[in-house]
Amino acid sequence: MLRPHGTLADCIFKGDDDELTFHLGAFIEGKLVSVASFYFENKPEFEGDHKHQYRLRGMATLPENQRQGLSSALLKTAFPLIKGNQCSLLWCNARESAEGFYNKIGFRSHGEIFDIPLIGPHRLMSIEIR
Ligand SMILES: CC(C)(COP(=O)(O)OP(=O)(O)OC[C@H]1O[C@@H](n2cnc3c(N)ncnc32)[C@H](O)[C@@H]1OP(=O)(O)O)[C@@H](O)C(=O)NCCC(=O)NCCS
Repeated sequence: MLRPHGTLADCIFKGDDDELTFHLGAFIEGKLVSVASFYFENKPEFEGDHKHQYRLRGMATLPENQRQGLSSALLKTAFPLIKGNQCSLLWCNARESAEGFYNKIGFRSHGEIFDIPLIGPHRLMSIEIR
């Protein structure tokens, strides 16, 4: 659903199989309905305050299961894992349409909106993990 005009190959990200990468999913009656992936990857502009960081990618919930708290639950599961890996920041390139969701979780927005070709407007966002 994140790449409706793409192929399965567009859903494979660099680092998917790295040792420190983890992928979370929420299941309802055995059906995978919400996903998020976490990569040990720094955004250089945050390195002054956060030596080690994680990047969030591929966060999505099936339309019929949205607004049930599933993405929040995945993030709350991820935070202690990120902290346990000695990282103090989680960042992402958030779709403009999802910025409200990330704000509710506690993410902060940074800089201007930028365009990712074929996907649309995004903004850099981050949350400190304590
Ligand atoms: C954005 C998305 C991942 C949120 O998933 P979700 O499982 O519906 O999120 P939750 O149910 O945990 O929502 C948590 C809170 O954020 C709110 N929220 C959810 N989506 C929102 C949005 N797009 N804008 C503003 N608030 C939003 C919810 O109402 C909820 O608020 P509450 O705690 O007051 O009830 C989901 O809408 C989605 O898959 N969108 C399409 C794909 C996408 O844009 N992914 C993000 C890529 S950066």
